[in-house]
Amino acid sequence: MVQITEVKGNSRENRISTHTHIKGLGLRPDGIAEKQSGGFVGQVAAREACGVVVDLIRAQKMSGRAVLLAGGPGTGKTALALALSHELGTKVPFCPIVGSEIYSTEVKKTEALMENFRRAIGLRVRETKEVYEGEVTELTPEETENPLGGYGKTISTLLIGLKSAKGSKKLRLDPSIYEAIQKERVTVGDVIYIEANTGACKRVGRSDAFATEFDLEAEEYVPIPKGDVHKKKEIVQDVTLHDLDIANARPQGGQDIMSMMGQLMKPKMTEITDKLREEINKVVSKYIDQGVAELVPGVLFIDEVHMLDIECFTYLNRALESRISPVVILASNRGMCTIRGTEDIVAAHGIPPDLLARLLIVPTHAYDAEEVKRIVKIRVATEGLAIAEAALDKVAEAGTNISLRYALQLLAPASIVARCRGAQEIGVQDVAECQDLFLDAGRSAAAMVGDGSGFLV
Ligand SMILES: Nc1ncnc2c1ncn2[C@@H]1O[C@H](COP(=O)(O)OP(=O)(O)O)[C@@H](O)[C@H]1O
Ligand SMILES: [Mg+2]
Repeated sequence: MVQITEVKGNSRENRISTHTHIKGLGLRPDGIAEKQSGGFVGQVAAREACGVVVDLIRAQKMSGRAVLLAGGPGTGKTALALALSHELGTKVPFCPIVGSEIYSTEVKKTEALMENFRRAIGLRVRETKEVYEGEVTELTPEETENPLGGYGKTISTLLIGLKSAKGSKKLRLDPSIYEAIQKERVTVGDVIYIEANTGACKRVGRSDAFATEFDLEAEEYVPIPKGDVHKKKEIVQDVTLHDLDIANARPQGGQDIMSMMGQLMKPKMTEITDKLREEINKVVSKYIDQGVAELVPGVLFIDEVHMLDIECFTYLNRALESRISPVVILASNRGMCTIRGTEDIVAAHGIPPDLLARLLIVPTHAYDAEEVKRIVKIRVATEGLAIAEAALDKVAEAGTNISLRYALQLLAPASIVARCRGAQEIGVQDVAECQDLFLDAGRSAAAMVGDGSGFLV
């Protein structure tokens, strides 16, 4: 009997859409940055520095260290961090947070920080999974009356016959697998395998016993699987330590690694405690020592790092030295400021000196008019808009004189204003109208007449 539960990874959704045009650092193989490449414009020195960091990470020389991207707002710090993680590959976890995210009334801040550290540490597990594999000899959905009434019938179980070189088996499966089987377009005579624990189904190809049948489409013929129908098979899986924490905190039948761990630990914990994490670390270390699993340190990006307080910084120092630490990238747009949580200790970027000493600091600089114009152009293309040359110049001008963010944010409303007056592309007047409708920070402050108390009148 096959048990069906599907556990989805709980990785965060990619919530940054302002950076969709960023594809990578845009470096040549020799590490030199092209003026415009990978969606990036300018910021050449910072991109090359990030390229060196990528090499350090690949050579595993980053432990105990972290990167700080320091520069004014809208100079591409977040974009650089994202590009850096793209360079490391898709299987590498990337966990972006903002300094202030860790403050909550429910969770201790170091706890929140720890959780994000574990989101950024991946584990590649080579597991031997229990599978059913063979050539499909029978595929019969069993129907019953729809329990909700009505005329339709629902499928209660699926009978499936599988044949391998050594024998054959008849399985009675849950209807949810039937969907998977339909999606893979499985028919009698195909070779498939079904994972026993997750119910995932994969069509391998057409059995070569049918190779002579008349077939117009190119089909991949595979031999009938060797061995028994029910057997163990090696499968590679990527999870983060946080996935393991969650899965073990709320025990559920599911991915194999979870249930294997369940056998080794008391399965009744319902909360992620330090103890639970320690237990998981122990099991993980054991797997690593046995060569079953491999650590894949990812990237933890902490934006607005001056929002962290002295306790968090102490924690960070220690966490960086741990044997399993992700690459930590910090970003700040502050110069000298008071370290949060202290009375009056002023330090660069609001970061204590002992942490500063561990940082590779990469500065980012403001863009010149031409670079701003190129960035605006890229965004126009990414957002699928059309814009007149003169209007483009006007947006770029706002980007240079006011801020890049303000300029980029004008694009979408301007396109709506343009459409309202029936124009095909954004014109100068649309940009001007949006600039009147939406103030930038400087004009907004100036427009408010106060009585000196700080309140508006
Ligand atoms: N060099 C660049 N090339 C292309 N786009 C950029 C560049 N620098 C910044 N951007 C874009 O400008 C916007 C603001 O940049 P962002 O990375 O958020 O700045 P920061 O994090 O330094 O405040 C984002 O949409 C970003 O993708
Ligand atoms: Mg940012």
